[in-house]
Amino acid sequence: MKDLFSPYKIKNLELKNRIVMPPMCQYSVDQKDGIATDWHYLHYVSRAIGGAGLIIIEMTDVEPDGRISDFDLGLWSDEQIPALKRIVDACHSYGAKVGIQIAHAGRKAEDAEVPVAPSAIAFDENSKQPRTLTTEEVKEQVEKFRTAVARAVKAGFDTIEIHGAHGYLIHQFHSPLTNKRDDEYGKDLTRFGREIIHAAKSEMPEDMPLLMRISAKEYVEGGYGIHESIAFAKDYQKAGVDMFDISSGGEGPIAAWGRPGTHAAYQVPLAKDIKQALDIPVMAVGRLDDPTLANAVIGNEDADLVAIGRGMLRNPYWALEAATNLRKETEIPKQYTTGF
Ligand SMILES: Cc1cc2nc3c(=O)[nH]c(=O)nc-3n(C[C@H](O)[C@H](O)[C@H](O)COP(=O)(O)O)c2cc1C
Repeated sequence: MKDLFSPYKIKNLELKNRIVMPPMCQYSVDQKDGIATDWHYLHYVSRAIGGAGLIIIEMTDVEPDGRISDFDLGLWSDEQIPALKRIVDACHSYGAKVGIQIAHAGRKAEDAEVPVAPSAIAFDENSKQPRTLTTEEVKEQVEKFRTAVARAVKAGFDTIEIHGAHGYLIHQFHSPLTNKRDDEYGKDLTRFGREIIHAAKSEMPEDMPLLMRISAKEYVEGGYGIHESIAFAKDYQKAGVDMFDISSGGEGPIAAWGRPGTHAAYQVPLAKDIKQALDIPVMAVGRLDDPTLANAVIGNEDADLVAIGRGMLRNPYWALEAATNLRKETEIPKQYTTGF
């Protein structure tokens, strides 16, 4: 029987438990230079001390105008490597493995003077009008993902997560609502994502797993559903994705059409569907803060890993407390044993 505290191995990534801190933007870069600060160091290392098996550093962008805000992390320059390496090394010393989410916000880049997108369609009436990327520029974006991944490997990350969810650039390319191109990147909606996967893999050691976060369902009128996401996820799996991190939405104003569930475990059925249809490991996320529930997701084999976002913002020691509640063995830092 597997549970939340069973170790997990995928390729050469060995985790001490099934608990993941998912990527969560901190908007805490000081100088608009994309370089991690002391805030990032303390924030991530606290969760390593707090017992998370895997920590995925927030959305980190491949170019300055690929950020949601100018206060987001970047990996477009070698100068951004050392501050990330310092975080990775410290998390390792407390027993956590570390990934990073590599991204481009596309039309959702709020501080870009003119955001770029597959097609010139704004997110909503309050958003900036994006400019269509030329075919040449699309190819350049793939190269930017490649060099960002190469820098992440240099920084010592254990795994890479490609951000293909939440209405950001890769999602914009594979969604028929936002990609109206007539070049090869419009005729084949997953081409951009697949090229990024190939580029990422070309920079990663062969035994390092590649994760991809997708929105398995859109919530706007005419948006895609689980059948379409199973189909495009298969393309990404063939291109080299080793595990999917299953989220949903982000393509349009919330509740424009349908709305994401607000109940516990609302995205687990989507994760389970992708896992079964593709026979691939998945990570489930979304309102799994109750340790009994998170444990059941693993025990019932609905997902291989569970991510706890807002629960870990409230409590960096979520994993240690979950072990106490579930009466499972886990290593408590010796300085804290009297607290448990
Ligand atoms: C403050 C904050 C920032 C977030 N930033 C990101 C991000 O950078 N990348 C991403 O894929 N999801 C991001 N998310 C979504 C979380 O990773 C997670 O999927 C979501 O919060 C649902 O999980 P939860 O119910 O456990 O919080 C963010 C969520 C929060 C609360």
